[in-house]
Amino acid sequence: MESAIPAHLTVPRTRPSRVPDDFRPAYPSFVARTPESTAQVVMAYLGAQLPAGTEPGGVPAALAQALAGPDGPAHHDRATQVVRDGPVDVVTVAYWDDPAAFDRWFARHREPWLTDRDGGGRWVEVIRPRVEEFETIFGARSRPEGVAVLAEGFSDQVREHAYWGGMRDRIPASQTGPLHDPGGLDVERDGDRVRVRPRGSVCLIRSGQDWTDTAPDEREIYLEDIEPNLRAGMDFLESDGLGIGCFANRYLTVLDADGRTTERSYGLSWWRTLAELERWSESHPTHLAIFSSFGRMVAARGSTKLRLYHEVSVVGPDEQWFEYAGCHERTGLLAALGS
Ligand code: HEM
Repeated sequence: MESAIPAHLTVPRTRPSRVPDDFRPAYPSFVARTPESTAQVVMAYLGAQLPAGTEPGGVPAALAQALAGPDGPAHHDRATQVVRDGPVDVVTVAYWDDPAAFDRWFARHREPWLTDRDGGGRWVEVIRPRVEEFETIFGARSRPEGVAVLAEGFSDQVREHAYWGGMRDRIPASQTGPLHDPGGLDVERDGDRVRVRPRGSVCLIRSGQDWTDTAPDEREIYLEDIEPNLRAGMDFLESDGLGIGCFANRYLTVLDADGRTTERSYGLSWWRTLAELERWSESHPTHLAIFSSFGRMVAARGSTKLRLYHEVSVVGPDEQWFEYAGCHERTGLLAALGS
């Protein structure tokens, strides 16, 4: 058992953890360990909005070239969200552990990405959390996803999970700070280009599910009992989340290299504050329904091959970039304008 916060980021706490030092979680979970040399990462969500009915297909050639070219990311993946009778959104998430390389890459590829858009919409949503500003959690130690692909490995079992508040306690900056600096959203429009500039910090969660390895009976429970609750939670956040602090939410299905859907999904949501995300997860009927249907399955079977992970970041205004070109008005942070 070890702390989710690595030794080199541990400082004397001025803000207490929600559990005592000898707390023992009821089940194991693990965090990704980034090398000590990593000070900051970049998470860039590059979105393409295609007309209704379009197949997502493979990575567009220009983007594929950019991702594989000089200063490209250490890892990326792609996913799609299909809104009934609405556009098909394809989101490529790219991760860098070298912000200077990202800056050079972004200077070269931002404008072409937002301009050469084949009649559809395009966007970029970027954050660059310092290692003190994000956390990860995985139910199993194999197959890293997302930012964990940049890590040098997984931890042993960690102490800070299996209680509400574990997420906050895993973020190193929570040892001494409230992670709470909310502000409104400023907007700059230039034709069909929109820059959204949050005046305060924002919180991002990518929360993933992978049912590839489940046996037939477990898969049936996932698809018929748990997933409908997950979908209801995602629908709630997407349509009514703003009132409880969720700026925007998407429920995405991961695509393989040829653009085919896989048995992996993730919820992606932008929150005004970590506190509001905490409140939703620990008290809203939709997450509680997800949580308890999962708990019932694990209790009935003793273990699970359903793989769950998440990554959560809280970043200040100078560590964010939100820009939308030709997108419909409910895309990303555009949906929160006026809040
Ligand atoms: C925590 C289940 C999807 C937000 C948890 C925990 C479980 C769980 C078991 C406790 C983990 C631990 O500390 O050991 C699930 C399942 C999901 C799912 C089975 C889908 C099938 C989501 C999604 C979101 C989300 C899509 C948000 C977009 C959270 C948050 C926490 C959490 C914020 C941390 C709460 C805290 O530590 O204070 N979830 N979840 N979950 N979940 Fe979910």
